[in-house]
Amino acid sequence: MAALIKKNSPIFNPSKPGYLWMGEGTLAISLQLYAENRRRLVEKLKEKNLGNAIVVLQGGDEIQMYDTNGYYLFRQESYFTWAFGVVEPAFFGTIEVQTGKSTLFIPRLPESYEAWYGPIWTPEDFMQKYQVDQVYYTDEIATILAQHSPSQLLTLRGFNQNSGSPTLEATFDGIENFIVNGTDLFDDITYLRVIKTDLEIEVMRYAIETSCEGHLKTMKMALPGTSEYQSESEFLHYCYSKRGCRHTGYISICGSGPNGAILHYGHAGAPNDRWIEDGDICVYDMGAAYFGYTADITTSFPANGKFTDDQKLIYQAVLNANRAAIKETKPGVRFSVLSAASNRALMEGLKSAGIVTGDIDEMLAANLPYYFQPHGLGHLLGLDVHDVGGYFSSFKNPKEAPRFNRPLEKGIVFTIEPGCYFIDFLLNEALGIPNLSRFLVPSVLNRFRGSGGVRIEDDVVVTDDGCENLSAMLPRTIDEIEAWFAANRSRKN
Ligand code: GLY
Ligand code: MN
Ligand code: MN
Repeated sequence: MAALIKKNSPIFNPSKPGYLWMGEGTLAISLQLYAENRRRLVEKLKEKNLGNAIVVLQGGDEIQMYDTNGYYLFRQESYFTWAFGVVEPAFFGTIEVQTGKSTLFIPRLPESYEAWYGPIWTPEDFMQKYQVDQVYYTDEIATILAQHSPSQLLTLRGFNQNSGSPTLEATFDGIENFIVNGTDLFDDITYLRVIKTDLEIEVMRYAIETSCEGHLKTMKMALPGTSEYQSESEFLHYCYSKRGCRHTGYISICGSGPNGAILHYGHAGAPNDRWIEDGDICVYDMGAAYFGYTADITTSFPANGKFTDDQKLIYQAVLNANRAAIKETKPGVRFSVLSAASNRALMEGLKSAGIVTGDIDEMLAANLPYYFQPHGLGHLLGLDVHDVGGYFSSFKNPKEAPRFNRPLEKGIVFTIEPGCYFIDFLLNEALGIPNLSRFLVPSVLNRFRGSGGVRIEDDVVVTDDGCENLSAMLPRTIDEIEAWFAANRSRKN
């Protein structure tokens, strides 16, 4: 332990051996979280009678910025985080299915590393840091694995259902001398990532609570006359400086006024650079990540603290859609049931606003909600913002529910994020389709064009008989939001 104390890493604070954390005031994550994930994995794999098989996972590598000697801030590969919690690049990890024994393989670094990056940690240091059974160097992996005479190596071969991209499948010099089974690991480990343990939920609770606090700090200062990027900066600063969250789960979306209707606003071509105006609704979608586990939260609020009558109509419709989905959430229910309830509430709200007219069932059958809310109701949440495992392959029907059509189970964490946006090209498209235009009332609809949108995104965890809204601390009703602004904008801090 003395050697580690000398190194004084904030991530391996010697006062908390057995934990990962960022120091006083931040959450100490027990390494039991990863040990339990590995235990669950071997239990599941044992059912398959794979003999003396060994799981081999490859961690992420640093990514160079083009031809320069600069690197993007490293973010660990998510399956690797799930299994080991490792924050450094260029590791491998193995888990023996029969014994559960875990081994990390670390890069052998040149002496010059010390001058540029600090002390070189030994295998013994990493064994203590991550509490695995053994640590070797990556150039030893083929030799060490061969000593165990494994029946096969189980590698992670599959596709991320959200992006369509392939997983990072382990490969190393000498792997050709083993029997490699790329088919038996992916589905099981992905399913286990879907169902969060209590230890994982504790970390997610921390990331979500941090993000709620960050949203509140941001709402307080997002006055007309300030810029969207100042809002983004406020959120990032709070989450990192007070809660140790260096990463976010995605690029922050801080859309004011018309930008609220741009679903992935905040990208390089639209970098949250508009200045907020009196009368704008702000749609802020920001989520902090802590040791990989991320929140994904959207607040929509009037920059001046008071909703106009038209803004109230849209906001209330979206809030009803959000609450309708939360009400349906319990084990056994398919996500599409939540979507249907939410879409119905949204259409009812737009009907009472006079924007649409006619029979709600017919609107739903014609897919009218899509033209006001082109994204799905929500998605799984965890180490990835659009977390893995959203479909049973037999249920895959992206048109019905993009990203997520799985019956709910206790321990699933997901977002509920209905929205309503006034996007000209979608509205014009709907007006050109007779089976949709018959529901639209252009004279009223036109009043809302250019106003942006509203999204209300909560993060929930499925419980025994319903769900817990982990972002419930945010003011969400119109009255709560206006009262919150009245109380908080008048104070200095
Ligand atoms: N922030 C991305 C999403 O809400 O899905
Ligand atoms: Mn979001
Ligand atoms: Mn989301």
